[in-house]
Amino acid sequence: MKCMKCFKVFVVLGILAALSIPVANLLMPQPRSAKLDAATKGDPLFAKVADILQNKCSHCHTEDAGLPFYAKAPLVSTLIQKDVDSGLKHLNMTTDLAPGGKTLSEPALAKIEYSIAQNAMPPMQYVAMHWNTTLSGSDETAIKKWIGLTRAEHYADAALPDDLKKAVIRPLPLKHSQNAVKAALGKKLFNDKRLSKDNTISCASCHAMDKGGTDQEAVSTGVNKQKGPINSPTVFNAMYNVKQFWDGRAKDLQDQAAGPVENPIEMAEKWDNVIVKLKADTAFNAEFKVAYPDGLSKKNVTHAIAVFEETLITPNCKFDKFLAGDTKSLNQAEQAGWRLFQLNACATCHCGAAMGGQSFELMGRKKNYFTQSGRELTKEDNGLSNFTKNESDKHKFKVPTLRNIAITFPYFHDAGAKDLETAVKVMADVQSGRSLSQPQIDNVVAFLKTLTGELEGKTLVPTTKPAE
Ligand code: HEC
Ligand code: HEC
Ligand code: HEC
Repeated sequence: MKCMKCFKVFVVLGILAALSIPVANLLMPQPRSAKLDAATKGDPLFAKVADILQNKCSHCHTEDAGLPFYAKAPLVSTLIQKDVDSGLKHLNMTTDLAPGGKTLSEPALAKIEYSIAQNAMPPMQYVAMHWNTTLSGSDETAIKKWIGLTRAEHYADAALPDDLKKAVIRPLPLKHSQNAVKAALGKKLFNDKRLSKDNTISCASCHAMDKGGTDQEAVSTGVNKQKGPINSPTVFNAMYNVKQFWDGRAKDLQDQAAGPVENPIEMAEKWDNVIVKLKADTAFNAEFKVAYPDGLSKKNVTHAIAVFEETLITPNCKFDKFLAGDTKSLNQAEQAGWRLFQLNACATCHCGAAMGGQSFELMGRKKNYFTQSGRELTKEDNGLSNFTKNESDKHKFKVPTLRNIAITFPYFHDAGAKDLETAVKVMADVQSGRSLSQPQIDNVVAFLKTLTGELEGKTLVPTTKPAE
């Protein structure tokens, strides 16, 4: 009898103890992230959702909000620290910012939108301890509205209709506003073999207009038939990349264009020699001075090439027409593929007008691609960390654009996938943590094939097939 009473007291005490944390959490002021406050202050739209993000997400998705008070208890702290570390690794609201820093990057927005659609955040165990952190219907509406308006204001092409401006993937603009005279000079230079030491290699050797802006080879071949260490990405729509190269080591197209000329494996020439060779061509020299009165120089040549590359936008693919309202432009399988693409989180990284190019992401996020591959790793496999020297950036790569993906084979920085089917299978596995059925893979591949656009008004056509 006496023991029964003890037991009851223990149960009541136990329940009270268990309840004390969530109850105290309701009463205690929750820590705020000063960094997130600073970031949201710069942008009135961002500020509108600042309180929701501070109260419900900042513990795990900012660097400085700190842990809740009870996390100091030994066992609790390890449990919660794990969530915080993993949360911050997946989304850091104080660093995943737009260029200029005013608001979140497009992939960060896409990821938040996806997590809301999946009802995934905040995690259940956190909500159990923090009763007022579930996202209410009105929170969700406010966040979704903010995401749409942020895309429209910070990222979308001004010529698009309002509803399309708010979408996770947007059609490419039909027109560009680049200086035609400079672009024409840039085009000549892009095809000019005098940029290489033995006058055998031009930019177009590795970025051919009839091969989707790539060379369709596993690795590129430079002067003296030297093989490079990494797959050549497309120059089409490269102007949408936040940075250039797989590891982001060039800040923009002009900065990038300076690189290949002096790269010993690619063009192996000195810029001074290039300028001497070009100046000796009196006709070209005169033509160049019309657009650039201070004449031929490394700075002006790389500028002209960058202006040309900014004209290499490939709009009007079947999917863009579908987005713009022509629902018949995609057949059943292609539309099913588009749905699978969204459901499997593909659009959280492959987002924006170019369907990529906006962030550096782990290869892979859910599973380690490199231990799976079984081959010996190279320096190139380090990706972003080669440039930033941050260990946490190891194996991160710039998300490639998926525009014209049917013709830019083989795939991945290491050309590890020779065809689209393999690339989709690997992506679903290592990035989304899903295993797709064969019919699902076929549908996603069918969808990806609708992303082949037009260059200068002509639809790009695959001239060759991936090697068997
Ligand atoms: C208790 C910590 C915690 C809180 C609070 C929390 N998250 Fe998370 N979040 C995580 C963890 C852990 C992951 C990684 C889940 C996984 O492994 O996929 C994550 C992942 C995410 C991702 C996925 C990023 C990606 O890689 O695709 C998004 C987006 C996200 N959280 C948004 C939010 C939002 C919005 C809130 C507030 C409403 C929130 N989270 C609150 C811990 C948290
Ligand atoms: C020998 C082959 C070769 C030549 C010649 C070459 N490239 Fe590349 N290009 C590559 C490879 C390989 C990469 C990827 C390198 C990396 O990321 O480390 C690349 C990357 C790029 C990128 C970055 C695209 C992205 O998505 O990050 C651009 C833009 C580019 N090249 C333009 C040019 C221009 C302009 C020239 C001429 C000045 C040129 N390339 C000459 C092979 C070549
Ligand atoms: C977490 C971000 C992320 C997600 C989610 C993601 N990808 Fe990727 N994707 C990448 C990165 C990074 C690469 C480049 C990896 C490399 O080269 O090592 C890539 C490469 C690709 C490529 C090859 C592109 C090329 O030119 O080489 C295809 C195709 C692709 N992804 C399709 C998909 C599909 C389909 C899904 C959904 C099942 C998906 N991705 C989900 C980040 C992501």
